[in-house]
Amino acid sequence: MVTGLKNPPTDHAGLLAWVAEVAELTTPDQIVWCDGSDAEWKRLTSELVAFGTLEPVPAKPDSFLARTNPNDVARVEERTFICSTNPEDAGPTNNWTSPEYMRETMTDLYRGSMRGRTMYVIPFCMGSLEAEKPMFGVEITDSAYVVISMHIMARMGTHVLEAMGGDAEYVPALHSVGAPLEPGQSDVSWPCNDTKYISHFPETREIWSYGSGYGGNSLLGKKCYALRIGSAMGRDEGWLAEHMLILRLTSPEGKVYHITGAFPSACGKTNLAMLEPTIPGWKVETLGDDIAWLRWGEDGRLWASNPEYGLFGVAPGTDYRTNPNAMRTIEKGHTLFTNVALTEEGDVWWEGMGEPPANATDWKGNEWTPDSEGLSSHPNSRFCTPIKQCPILSDAYEDPRGVPIDAILFGGRRATTIPLVTQARDWTHGVYMGATLSSETTAAAVGQVGVVRRDPMAMLPFIGYNAGDYFDHWIGMGKSADDESKLPSVFYVNWFRRDEDGGFLWPGFGENSRVLKWVVERLEGKAEAVETPIGFNPRPEDIDVEGLDMDPNDLAASLKVDPEEWKAELPLVEEWFTKIGNRLPTQLWAELDALKSRLGVD
Ligand code: GDP
Ligand code: PGA
Ligand code: MN
Ligand code: MN
Repeated sequence: MVTGLKNPPTDHAGLLAWVAEVAELTTPDQIVWCDGSDAEWKRLTSELVAFGTLEPVPAKPDSFLARTNPNDVARVEERTFICSTNPEDAGPTNNWTSPEYMRETMTDLYRGSMRGRTMYVIPFCMGSLEAEKPMFGVEITDSAYVVISMHIMARMGTHVLEAMGGDAEYVPALHSVGAPLEPGQSDVSWPCNDTKYISHFPETREIWSYGSGYGGNSLLGKKCYALRIGSAMGRDEGWLAEHMLILRLTSPEGKVYHITGAFPSACGKTNLAMLEPTIPGWKVETLGDDIAWLRWGEDGRLWASNPEYGLFGVAPGTDYRTNPNAMRTIEKGHTLFTNVALTEEGDVWWEGMGEPPANATDWKGNEWTPDSEGLSSHPNSRFCTPIKQCPILSDAYEDPRGVPIDAILFGGRRATTIPLVTQARDWTHGVYMGATLSSETTAAAVGQVGVVRRDPMAMLPFIGYNAGDYFDHWIGMGKSADDESKLPSVFYVNWFRRDEDGGFLWPGFGENSRVLKWVVERLEGKAEAVETPIGFNPRPEDIDVEGLDMDPNDLAASLKVDPEEWKAELPLVEEWFTKIGNRLPTQLWAELDALKSRLGVD
């Protein structure tokens, strides 16, 4: 028997049986039950430094840099599978195999895959342990990088295992980098495998991941549990698991609002969540930057909570001008950086962080100067940092109920067509906006960058079931509200519209507070808007631009609703709806027809 199975720190029979079964299959050298302690963090970070997986970042307390294998830098959507019994239940937007096929295929891959390595058992909880039903998970992994990342990103360790007791339900999440070591074989700094599978069994609520060490593929509480498995749970239980930031906005009069925002990966969630308003008297506090669980409150309103414990932010573009609160969060240390540059002074640097250093080591470990051809940091390089270090974290963050939502923003990265902000007519129109959301692809996923694709509710890679059923669930959530006026108002934003020279029309970042102000004033019935074919839109004079040095033509262009551009969008939406097929709710076809007739197209 491998060490670690004797005298385990739990009497949860189901968990013990699963751990024993995985150990027998993967044959690790030893099993370690992760306790989440500082001592564990110290031991593992020291080991990883000794192995060359991590390099200390001396300029920041207790911080480290990881350089991944250059082929393991982002989520792998092509290799992500939803394994429902019936392929229809995975729908036309997910990769599918039968559960039997995937179990057989991956069992073969897992056989002996932890040879020569340590198998870590990480008890974790997504969301508060004080929740009515705590959302437990256990990740088994052979990556110490995953363990220390989970220290930051999730509530984990002994207190979670104790809270699970002897019989709590949990989501088993198995991860192996797929790089067994033969006796005497020396390890590489970033073990992984060319063969990758990120598989989900929504019916049995299980996750199996193989071959990648990158965050979104390996920190299984995040995308895999809190979004893909979570969305399937939400469908069955009447709630929503969404790819959303959550923020609290306080107006100069002291009125408090809560806003969530669904933007695709690398399209501005972390930045908006930590926004520093440029307009006087307004205050933003952070609740979450990537995932929100939306449930009904006792007051009949929709409440949002953040199941995560850390921030996993895109590094490039982050600095004191764009996102000062993210900088303040990482300055406090205890931060893991992945695929950024390290300066001679021993600090991190990436594109967009002020003046480049004269000399640095780039994300691949090569010498880098401002004259070097390539980027110093991978475009999807990340900082992983405790959310508790965020100086503007809301005091409601720990509340298991979350916060009542006033407005939902959908948004994407579009150079054309989509105005800075549009308000939906009603809930169903808002669902239509979300269902037809489009965005240019980014470096957050492996594949071509800058291609416009439909990314419904920013959930294309994360819906754990049929997208048509998912839209129906959204519409149904609106219907199950006891009072439509209690539902959040829906808005569609685009910070990324460009001028003819390719520059952004809208200054973005802290200036987005001006858009939030218009949103709130719409809720209060104070701000003006005009009704256009696509919804309610502000005129330039409706946006507060006081103190903003901006060309009025650019403002007008950023707000413009161009019927010709919208007509060109129609066939793309039609194609998208046709692809979703017969499970697409008829209400959404009706919304498209109504939009067509408002645009004068039949
Ligand atoms: P997330 O992945 O959705 O959390 O997106 P981030 O907030 O990390 O932002 C992704 C990238 O977009 C970063 O490089 C940001 O600097 C950039 N970004 C974020 N907000 C804005 C904005 O309002 N305007 C512009 N132009 N870029 C932005
Ligand atoms: P992001 O999170 O949305 O902050 O980019 C990671 C991801 O979605 O891959
Ligand atoms: Mn994300
Ligand atoms: Mn983010």
